[in-house]
Order: sequence, then C-alpha cells, then structure tokens
Amino acid sequence: MKTRITELFGIEHPIIQGGMHYVGFAELAAAVSNAGGLGIITGLTQRTPELLANEIRRCREMTDKPFGVNLTFLPVLTAPDYPGYIRAIIDGGVKAVETAGNNPQKWLPALQEAGVKVIHKCTSVRHSLKAEAIGCDAISVDGFECGGHPGEDDVPNFILLPRAAEALKIPFVASGGMADGRSLVAALALGAEGMNMGTRFIATKEAPVHEKVKQAIVAASELDTRLVMRPLRNTERVLTNAAVERLLETERRLGAETRFEDILAEVAGVYPKVMQDGDMDAGAWSCGMVAGLIHDVPSVAELIGRIMAEAEDIIGRRLTGLMAA
Ligand SMILES: Cc1cc2nc3c(=O)[nH]c(=O)nc-3n(C[C@H](O)[C@H](O)[C@H](O)COP(=O)(O)O)c2cc1C
Repeated sequence: MKTRITELFGIEHPIIQGGMHYVGFAELAAAVSNAGGLGIITGLTQRTPELLANEIRRCREMTDKPFGVNLTFLPVLTAPDYPGYIRAIIDGGVKAVETAGNNPQKWLPALQEAGVKVIHKCTSVRHSLKAEAIGCDAISVDGFECGGHPGEDDVPNFILLPRAAEALKIPFVASGGMADGRSLVAALALGAEGMNMGTRFIATKEAPVHEKVKQAIVAASELDTRLVMRPLRNTERVLTNAAVERLLETERRLGAETRFEDILAEVAGVYPKVMQDGDMDAGAWSCGMVAGLIHDVPSVAELIGRIMAEAEDIIGRRLTGLMAA
C-alpha cells in the first residue's frame, strides 16, 4: 500500500509503532521495521544519550530498514538532556523522529537539517495545526481512546480524524484504538494515511516485556481502562488495578486540590516494575481501550501481515462488493 506516510518514511506498510516507555526497545522497533512498518525506539527509556546511541546501534544490527526514535517533551522542571538525545539520533543516522508532549519547535531545525522527518503526536486539531505551521512533516492524531496521554479535550477518533482531514495539509496517521485491518481501512476512510499503534504492539511475541503484561492486555476488555491525573491536567489512560483504584480514590477525596505528591506512590518508578518484573499491581501504566480488541499474542510479522491482508480483503471484496450490489 502506498500513501504519503509510506513515501515520507520509506516503508512498505502505513503502520507505525508509537513510542512506549519501557516497551520500545530495539527488539520491538526492529521487528516492526523488518515487517515493513516503522518501528520506534523510546528515547527517554534510555537514561542517557550514550545509552540511546547504543540502543540505536543495537537496532541497526537487527534491521536494515528505516526505524525511528520517540522524544517525549515532558512538563518537568529539570529537563532531560534533549540536545544530547538529538545528537545521538542524528549521529546514529536515524531518519524519523516521533515527538510528543510539548511543542517541538526548538528542536526542529537541527533534526530537519540532518534529514530527519518529524511526526508530532497531537490530541487536538488546534495542536495539529500548530505543528503543521512550525514545519513538522506529519502528525500522529491521537484520539481519546488512546493508551497514554489523550489530552483534556476528550474527542474520539470518529470525530477527531475527519476534523484533522478537514484542517491539515500535511499527512497524518490515526492513533488510538487501532488494532487490525478494520482499523486501518476506517482510518484511511476518515482521511488518515496510515495508523499508529501502541497497546496492540505490546501483546506481540517480540515486545520485550514480561509475559504477564501481554496476558493482562489479552484478558482486559474495553471497559478496563481508567483516566488518572485528570485533576492535574495530565490525564493518562491506564489499565485498572488495585493501585489505580487507590489513586482514583485519592483524587476523588482531594478533588482539585490533588497534587502530584499525593499520588506519587502509584505513578513514580512504575514502568520497570510492571514491564520487566511483571509486578502488575505496582502502579498506573498506560493501556488503550483497544485492549478489548486484542485476543492473542502473535509475532509482529504475523500481526502486520494479518492487518494488511484484512485491509485488502475489506477494500477489495467487502466494500467493492457493496458497490457492485
Ligand atoms: C505502555 C505505554 C507507554 C507509552 N509511552 C509513551 C511515551 O513514552 N511517549 C509517547 O509519546 N507515547 C507513549 N505512549 C503512547 C503510544 O505511543 C501511542 O500513542 C498510543 O498507545 C496509541 O494508542 P493505543 O494504545 O490505543 O494504540 C505509550 C503507550 C503505552 C500503551
């Protein structure tokens, strides 16, 4: 399949694996890229630029296809060494960066002068237009369904994607709630030129996370996610567990007075405990409503092959058949 997204990133299928903290290591990124999608290493999971440079080298040993790096700009007081991470990306010869969080404007010139294509993840049309105006190459439009940070507008993809299509000139992918060939065809119909998946890629053989995480996603339904940190205007969609319910109880009790320190126990340092140790009640970890559509743990190649075959069948047989009737 050829779209402006496959052309932009030099990939075979219009499928991107979004950056995921403590999931997006070289093993997963390489598997996605080898299967014809765009795999993405999560920059900040590597604690220093040197470690990121090493992760990029490891990924290159596992694939000769294009892959990217996610750089998340966090609302924190002491910022990570972003110039160092950007140097590691450029020196490592990476040609695609997924930015997320705060406005990436400051970092665009260095990246784009080095030939890096930048796709910025946005949860609203207004932020997407801003990203287009500052010169981003593409947008990942992340609807309310998504795992991770859906923003504060709560607009689901059935509205957000066609709104983005009305407003944007640069290409965009649909992100949030995407799982299969149906998702891809729907995303294309709504104006996107591909899709970005997070949660679905965790439940794959190659995702380098504890088996219990994969099984928790397979077992979860679309009713099992919760929105935490709403009072802090830093909303995150996570899979429910005992720690999450405790956190929500604190938020209900303190209301608008909730401060980050009040929920620290349920959100700080959680990812390595969940993803590596399989300590499923350690705290809040991102997961999309799409868990309800995830029923197995295939290899990445099986998953992407299945998505493309299903998409072709829907377009070529089912939809074409409806037109012929
Ligand atoms: C476990 C997990 C960790 C994530 N970590 C990040 C991150 O560090 N940076 C980022 O930009 N997005 C992060 N995301 C969001 C994904 O890149 C992607 O936008 C999102 O998962 C799409 O929604 P879906 O889960 O419904 O596919 C994370 C998502 C999950 C599920």
